[in-house]
Formats: sequence, structure tokens, C-alpha cells
Amino acid sequence: MHRKFKIAGVGEVLWDIYPDKKYLGGAVSNSIFHINRLSHEGILISKVGKDKYGEELIEELEKNGVATDFVQVDPVKPTGTVEVRLDEKAVPSFKCTSGTAYEYLDWDEKFSDLIASLDGLIFGTLVQINPHSRKTLYKLIEQLKNTLIVYDINLRGWPGESNELIEKSLQFTDILKLNFDEFDKLKEKLGIRKNEVTAILQVLLRRYDIKLISLSMGAQGGLFIDKNRIIYVPGIIVNPIDTTGAGDAFVSAIVVKYLEGASIEEIGEFSNYLGAFITIMRGATPDYNLQDIDHFKALHKKRRYHPEFSQYTIKE
Ligand SMILES: Nc1ncnc2c1ncn2[C@@H]1O[C@H](COP(=O)(O)OP(=O)(O)O)[C@@H](O)[C@H]1O
Ligand SMILES: [Mg+2]
Repeated sequence: MHRKFKIAGVGEVLWDIYPDKKYLGGAVSNSIFHINRLSHEGILISKVGKDKYGEELIEELEKNGVATDFVQVDPVKPTGTVEVRLDEKAVPSFKCTSGTAYEYLDWDEKFSDLIASLDGLIFGTLVQINPHSRKTLYKLIEQLKNTLIVYDINLRGWPGESNELIEKSLQFTDILKLNFDEFDKLKEKLGIRKNEVTAILQVLLRRYDIKLISLSMGAQGGLFIDKNRIIYVPGIIVNPIDTTGAGDAFVSAIVVKYLEGASIEEIGEFSNYLGAFITIMRGATPDYNLQDIDHFKALHKKRRYHPEFSQYTIKE
């Protein structure tokens, strides 16, 4: 058994509004939810509004064992919401409200004690778009020592996803997670003039002194690269119901396994399984436990390969 790691997430918490139901959502909040499901201590640093949605969010987080001591309540700004629609492959598109509470994170004197005890910190891009939350995030990150810093880039094409902002985030980053769309955008933004995906990732790794990069590829699994290795983990064949939040769970699995000292193969396998498992349930934060993941693994052995990366495939 490993000790329990303490991992904070700084970013958005909101309601994912589906046509018939609402689910706990927000990329960073989702990742923290999964940290708890994976038997570690996830702490959410976020903000809700002083409204019904805000109260319900705090209730829902607590029900799921997520500490809410650092979920602030804004007296004026409303709680965040996102309208979610799924396409025929169960891939979501999002319509996000702006000017909501999580964009206005304040500095809290209690952060100082928390910072000293953190093993990991997860953040994304959305929380940085408003200078208010961005300032709080940077102040927090700048005080961290010996904390693994994880950047789940989650680019959505919002105005404000500037090169400067992204480059600053990459300079803090120990582990970077991005999907294929985000990879294309990043390559363009940073003007990396190489053709091969793996060569571009190697440039990123060296330029920003990153420890591990994971390029997730939805149904086709993921690529994992560190200073010494490139490995490809082929996708698990499933019948997805809702792929919302697969990436958020995938990130949590990477962080936990990395802190546990797992090999890059183990990190890849476990995160790929967790990501796939999340797609067979509705919403980004379904009810499950560690045994359910084992059960899922035993029933899902078939793989889907991305032809370009088969040379890096891990041996099963
Ligand atoms: N349709 C799917 N089938 C199997 N696994 C999936 C599927 N969608 C996502 N996953 C798993 O979840 C991971 C993250 O999903 P992805 O869609 O790439 O990220 P994001 O949600 O950040 O866009 C993938 O690398 C894969 O392991
Ligand atoms: Mg994502």
C-alpha cells in the first residue's frame, strides 16, 4: 500500500447541464473527484456563487468526499454552468457561461498551510483567462516546493488562450496532458516546425523541462513520453455512452500512479483503463470504486490501435 497523497486542483467547478439532468462537472473539479475515488485526498480550490446551484454543488462535492474548505462563495457572481450535448460517438460539445464565480478566486490566508502539505497540484487554462483567478493561481504555484505540478491544458478555443499564458503555464509544468486537437493548436501557437508527433513532443519536453507528457487520443488510447522513453498504449474497445470527462479521469490516474512511483507503462495502462471506463457511464463523475475498475479491466481486453504509433506499443 502506498501512503495517501494530497492533491489539490485549482480551477472550475460547475454544473454540466444535459437536456434531462445535471451532473457535477468542470475539468479540474472532475479530476479532484477522481483523485478521491482512487483513494487519495483530493482538495478543490474553486468558487461557486451564493445561489441554489452553488449550494447544490457544495453538497454534491461533500457527498462524494471532496473537501470543500477551499471552495469559496462569491456574493455576486453566479455559479458556473455548461450546456453539454453529445454527438453520435458520445463526444460532447460544450456551451460555457462566462463571468461566473470560479473566475474570481481570491487569495486565502489558509493556502499557506495547505501549500506546505501538497504532493500534487492540477490546473488548466480556463481558470487563467480572467486575471483575477490567474493572479491567485500564480501566487499559489510560486510558493510550492516539491509539489508535482500538472497542467491539463484543456484548450477550448476561447478568446484569451494566449501564447503568453500557455507558455507561462508550461514553464511551471512537471506533467502535461493534452489531446490531439490541443496538440495541433499548441504546435501552431508555439511555432514548432517538426513533422513527427513524437519529435514535437520531445521538443516540448526539453524546452519546458517537463517530466512526462501524455497525448491522449480518445478511442485510440494515448502516447506517453518522458526523458528516456516513448510508449503507446492502444485504446480499450468499449461502447461509449458519454465520453465527457474521460480526459479528466485519465489525468487523475496519471498523477496518482506517478506519485506512487509507477513505471511509465503502468501509468499508461492504468490511466487508459480509467479513461475508457468513464466513457461507459453517464456524466463526468459517475459513482464507482477501485474494484469496479478491476472488473472492467477483466471484461475489456480488446484494443484499438493508432497506426502511426504501433512501433511504440507496450508489451502486454
Ligand atoms: N471512446 C473511447 N474509447 C476508449 N477509451 C477512451 C474513449 N474516449 C476516451 N478514452 C480514454 O480516455 C482518455 C482521454 O480521452 P480524450 O478524449 O483523449 O481526452 P479529453 O477528454 O481530454 O479530450 C483516452 O486517452 C482514452 O484512454
Ligand atoms: Mg481534456
